[in-house]
Amino acid sequence: MPKMKLIFGFLVLYASLTRTHAADTISANQVVRYNQTIISPKETFELGFFNPGNSTNHYVGIWYKKISNRTVVWVANRNTPLRDNSSELTLTHQGILILRNATTGNVTWSSANSSTRSVRNPIGQLQDTGNFIIYEEGGVNNQEDPIWQSFDFMTDTLLPGMKHGKNLVTGIERHLTSWKSADDPASGEFSDWIDTRGYPQLIIRQAGEIMFRGGPWNGLWFTGTPNLKQNDFYHFTFVLNESEIYFQYNLIDTSALMRLVLQPSGRSEGLLWINRTQTWSLYTAPQIDRCDQYAVCGPSGICNINNSPFCLCLKGFEPRSPDQWRNTDWSQGCRRTIPLDCDPAEGFKKYTNLKLPDTQGSWYNQTMTLEECKEMCKRNCSCTAYTNSNISGTGSGCLLWFGDLIDIRTLSEDGDTLYIRMSASELESIENSRSSSAGRRVWVIVPVAFVVLVIIVSICLFYRFNRKKQQQQGTPGNESGPDPENRNGDEGLELPLFGLSTILKATNNFSINAKLGEGGFGPVYKISDFGMARTFGGNQIEANTNRVVGT
Ligand SMILES: *[C@@H]1O[C@H](CO)[C@@H](O)[C@H](O)[C@H]1NC(C)=O
Ligand SMILES: *[C@@H]1O[C@H](CO)[C@@H](O)[C@H](O)[C@H]1NC(C)=O
Ligand SMILES: *[C@@H]1O[C@H](CO)[C@@H](O)[C@H](O)[C@H]1NC(C)=O
Ligand SMILES: *[C@@H]1O[C@H](CO)[C@@H](O)[C@H](O)[C@H]1NC(C)=O
Ligand SMILES: *[C@@H]1O[C@H](CO)[C@@H](O)[C@H](O)[C@H]1NC(C)=O
Ligand SMILES: *[C@@H]1O[C@H](CO)[C@@H](O)[C@H](O)[C@H]1NC(C)=O
Ligand SMILES: *[C@@H]1O[C@H](CO)[C@@H](O)[C@H](O)[C@H]1NC(C)=O
Ligand SMILES: *[C@@H]1O[C@H](CO)[C@@H](O)[C@H](O)[C@H]1NC(C)=O
Ligand SMILES: *[C@@H]1O[C@H](CO)[C@@H](O)[C@H](O)[C@H]1NC(C)=O
Ligand SMILES: *[C@@H]1O[C@H](CO)[C@@H](O)[C@H](O)[C@H]1NC(C)=O
Ligand SMILES: *[C@@H]1O[C@H](CO)[C@@H](O)[C@H](O)[C@H]1NC(C)=O
Ligand SMILES: *[C@@H]1O[C@H](CO)[C@@H](O)[C@H](O)[C@H]1NC(C)=O
Repeated sequence: MPKMKLIFGFLVLYASLTRTHAADTISANQVVRYNQTIISPKETFELGFFNPGNSTNHYVGIWYKKISNRTVVWVANRNTPLRDNSSELTLTHQGILILRNATTGNVTWSSANSSTRSVRNPIGQLQDTGNFIIYEEGGVNNQEDPIWQSFDFMTDTLLPGMKHGKNLVTGIERHLTSWKSADDPASGEFSDWIDTRGYPQLIIRQAGEIMFRGGPWNGLWFTGTPNLKQNDFYHFTFVLNESEIYFQYNLIDTSALMRLVLQPSGRSEGLLWINRTQTWSLYTAPQIDRCDQYAVCGPSGICNINNSPFCLCLKGFEPRSPDQWRNTDWSQGCRRTIPLDCDPAEGFKKYTNLKLPDTQGSWYNQTMTLEECKEMCKRNCSCTAYTNSNISGTGSGCLLWFGDLIDIRTLSEDGDTLYIRMSASELESIENSRSSSAGRRVWVIVPVAFVVLVIIVSICLFYRFNRKKQQQQGTPGNESGPDPENRNGDEGLELPLFGLSTILKATNNFSINAKLGEGGFGPVYKISDFGMARTFGGNQIEANTNRVVGT
């Protein structure tokens, strides 16, 4: 009997040893010591103790197993470092992961105790996604709905599959917080949030103040980061409903390694692992230039990086403090030249290719149409701008702004459209300048087109005359005359012979009634009575049907 007990004891010891060495799980009361780790099933991630950079402090974290230059994606005790190697990690019977002093038993860190669920048989597991979950062994939906998961308590790294945003049911708000430095994972001053005040938008805060705004999700991307778009490599999900608001990305090739990290400098970077060079390469970074600095041009200012200086006022606005503005202090922003007075004749001016303004305090409805949205904005005198909340497809939803429009910039492509409220007189002056410039265009084009026509016709006449003369002189030849084989190819060059009088007659002296419209070269006329089918300036004229002449 004692022999049996001994063998059994060895088996248990052996089992526990092999388990702590290469297992992906930890069960209640099991201990992970300083030199031991938990490894995910496909050996993608590893959890254990580490020293960051040159630091002598010890932390518990998760890193990529296959990358030799350790890249940490999650830290447990970031703000309570361990001074020596005498601590151990264990899972309590209540399903709480704790880090405690092996000699005194003092707990230095523990996973949040937010769950009120009673647990009988908890188990912790490191998954190949990089998520460490604690769940009830044998429970229903135990792994999809764990008691606790590290993905809910992100540090500075957004991994594929993580939900960046807020769970409106549990109240958990998942955000990134930068490290203090490469040697110190303690919470730095930068944090990356999905701000849910108003229509959700991506922001980076520095010590509580917004420093960068990725902007609201427009159905396809965050409005200020059109360089961060869906592609063949990853796809995005943005969920906005009564139970949750979050952003998530997933890799299409799941064997690739990618991470979005908020660096100690406050820069957000998308990094991709290049196996060949064994380095992380910068794939994307939303903060590009000075226009990305939050509200750099002040209220109602608009930042255009191609302009010098890059701050401008929106149309119908003027600098609030002209002296400061001239001295490149744009913080006061702009104010309306003609204040709004809730006149029913007020309307909206359409702006395109913009980063949409700050949506704190905005209002939205995801099912309204653009027309309903306009009406809604028009009815409320404090509404200053509106647009579709979702530009995907033909556009849907309604997003309204009240008060000052903050942090707008122009984008060279893929910007959004915004309709900004204008006073009736401002709209009138915009309308007048537009129609007068359109009027000028017509007055310029008609005479120019006429002169061009006269020149073309004279060239034709001259060309025909010379050719006739050459034929009469009997000097045909391969060198001088057009190659008969190539005639088809040259046909577009052979200009037709229409007398000016014929054209004048056909277009009724370029009558307004015969005018069909305007092309890039000038007005286009309908020809009333013509008997030939010819090519003229690229426009086909067909016999006995409605014909068109391009001038
Ligand atoms: C961990 O350290 C203990 C004590 O120093 C040692 O007995 C054990 O073999 C080590 N385990 C590994 C996997 O290095
Ligand atoms: C570690 O120290 C070395 C030498 O002092 C320094 O060059 C290196 O940048 C440091 N590494 C980190 C991550 O701070
Ligand atoms: C290892 O990573 C650090 C930062 O994560 C970097 O500064 C260093 O150059 C890397 N070392 C090698 C050898 O790639
Ligand atoms: C654990 O407690 C012992 C005794 O109080 C102390 O010497 C040691 O530094 C502690 N370890 C940690 C990591 O705090
Ligand atoms: C802990 O540190 C001490 C002294 O630095 C060392 O002797 C011991 O082997 C270490 N233990 C582990 C498990 O690494
Ligand atoms: C550790 O625990 C002991 C008693 O269990 C307590 O006296 C001591 O203050 C604790 N130390 C720390 C650093 O919490
Ligand atoms: C966790 O919460 C439960 C129930 O609220 C409580 O009984 C338990 O003592 C708590 N554990 C810790 C470590 O705070
Ligand atoms: C945006 O509109 C598209 C197409 O109408 C729809 O599939 C998508 O779910 C919408 N997105 C959001 C966030 O409402
Ligand atoms: C919200 O969206 C998520 C993800 O699509 C879904 O699982 C959940 O059931 C939705 N909740 C509601 C209340 O529609
Ligand atoms: C990475 O490169 C090594 C050799 O440099 C190769 O053995 C390994 O299969 C590569 N891994 C992937 C995922 O391509
Ligand atoms: C959104 O607008 C639609 C259509 O106007 C309306 O039926 C719906 O109740 C609105 N939803 C909210 C949350 O206001
Ligand atoms: C206009 O909108 C604001 C902000 O949503 C709201 O407080 C106010 O009641 C609205 N006014 C009218 C007349 O609807």
